[in-house]
Amino acid sequence: MKSVEWTDAMSVGSDVLDGHHKMIIDCLNRLQPLIGSEEREADIASVVEALEEFVLIHFSEEEQCMKKAGYPDWQAHKEQHDRMFDIVFGLKADLDHGRTIDAERLFELFYDWLLQHILGEDRKYMSYIANPTPHPTAQWSGTAG
Ligand SMILES: [Fe+2]
Ligand SMILES: [Fe+2]
Repeated sequence: MKSVEWTDAMSVGSDVLDGHHKMIIDCLNRLQPLIGSEEREADIASVVEALEEFVLIHFSEEEQCMKKAGYPDWQAHKEQHDRMFDIVFGLKADLDHGRTIDAERLFELFYDWLLQHILGEDRKYMSYIANPTPHPTAQWSGTAG
């Protein structure tokens, strides 16, 4: 399986937020060699710790940026973050209870985040943070008298 590489097409236009997103790519590349290998619990646990650090650092920063930039859908975006937050803390709880986490399942889950959330949802706020002036929230409907 090929490693996952950062490309400029993944950028959301913020060095700080891009730096956080690169943490996900790093986690994916740490998970790949663990797929199919046995007794790598300690390595998987360290990836889950990195993911925990990611959600703690990144989500609040990104939500602040969206709000400041006047991105109108920030609340729906935050709800997606909240669900992702729950998933990571569920994984952490699994580890704390001695349950095994499958590296391939973890890889697929976070690869999906990269594609669906970072490349899909996150890039929707890009034009707002590039131009953080208040955007009109409604358009004139132009009803003729
Ligand atoms: Fe993000
Ligand atoms: Fe996000």
